[in-house]
Amino acid sequence: MNWAEIITDLENKLSSKRFRHTINVVAAAEQLASHFGVDLNQARLAALLHDCAKNMSDEKLLGYAKEHRIKVDRVSRYDPQLLHGPVGAVLVKERYGITDAAIQRAVCYHTTGCKKMSALEKIIYLADYIEKDRSFPGIDAIREAAEIDLDRALILALTNSICHVAQTGALLHKHTLEARNDLLIKTRNVR
Ligand SMILES: [Fe+2]
Ligand SMILES: [Fe+2]
Repeated sequence: MNWAEIITDLENKLSSKRFRHTINVVAAAEQLASHFGVDLNQARLAALLHDCAKNMSDEKLLGYAKEHRIKVDRVSRYDPQLLHGPVGAVLVKERYGITDAAIQRAVCYHTTGCKKMSALEKIIYLADYIEKDRSFPGIDAIREAAEIDLDRALILALTNSICHVAQTGALLHKHTLEARNDLLIKTRNVR
């Protein structure tokens, strides 16, 4: 599918709130990509498609994962919405015909993060986190960091996400912890 066809498809599939969020993530990703020298087309497409599986129910996500041999770990089995990243990544290829593995990975890990994230993956995670309609305590510090240092901004976002998940009593995916540990070690930011 081309850009216009993907837009029409997403507009039909996603709620109007989710579609607006998607367009905001595209804008945030464009800004981050041009600032940090990441390929704009990859950033735009990954941002546009990042929530393409977000309309699916838990049952549908689990069924799709089984059908496409996506690994479903214990945490994702209890919280199947975590699968909208990995399922979205398969849709990117199979439904939207995007063969770029870097874009598929950015969609796959946009919710949990992962070890050794590429600049594109970092940008999509962050764009999703700080798009203009997002509002939560601590967002200003993350937005400010995102103008200067991508890794620092991502560490702040991951820390915020881990605290939020813990406070709400939800399950924490190990990929999120691994992403944060990896960045702290890489940037020697460990206390
Ligand atoms: Fe998402
Ligand atoms: Fe999103």
